Amino acid sequence: MHNKIERILFTESQIAQRVRELGEQISRDYETLLGEKLSREPLLAIGLLRGAVIFLADLARAMKIPVELAFMAISSYGASTSPSEVRTVKDLEIPVAGRHILIVEDIVDTGQTLAHLQELLQARHPASVKICALLDKIPRRARTVSIDYVGFTLAEDAFVVGYGLDYAERYRNLPYIALLKQSAIRS
Ligand code: IMP
Repeated sequence: MHNKIERILFTESQIAQRVRELGEQISRDYETLLGEKLSREPLLAIGLLRGAVIFLADLARAMKIPVELAFMAISSYGASTSPSEVRTVKDLEIPVAGRHILIVEDIVDTGQTLAHLQELLQARHPASVKICALLDKIPRRARTVSIDYVGFTLAEDAFVVGYGLDYAERYRNLPYIALLKQSAIRS
């Protein structure tokens, strides 16, 4: 284990198992919803940079349906709940009108990022927008966000790293999701 890690919350194999289940569930749901139409118009999975990259790479390979990948970057400032403090840093390069969109996020915390993104995308008239989040950190939720697919739930307000999640851009490449030691966090 990495020397800055306090405790592993979800192991590599637990994550792999859950990602497989999510991929199968998502595939079943969109097959039921769209059937043949999927071959003409694949699902558009939009990953949020940079945290969701590793999750989306695995999730896309666990999906059994045609899927296109796209990426956006949203940045937020501090812990404020004002939506004006969230902005789009990298937008999509393709139109999404009439498309079925699955937003893929690493972790939902206050919910600001996803609330902002949902408003932004809905204004472009997609056919549907659903959300898949690897982690749902419930205690700090400030905006109501309905998450359609959740990997794991975090009932405690803990800062986690690994499997794409960072602290100051470090630890994204850890294969598990873990709590950082307090000594590794700058106060
Ligand atoms: P929200 O807008 O407050 O829901 O924040 C979502 C974003 O905050 C995520 O996409 C992460 O980039 C970041 N974040 C929130 N909690 C954690 C954490 O425990 N570890 C790493 N990043 C986090």
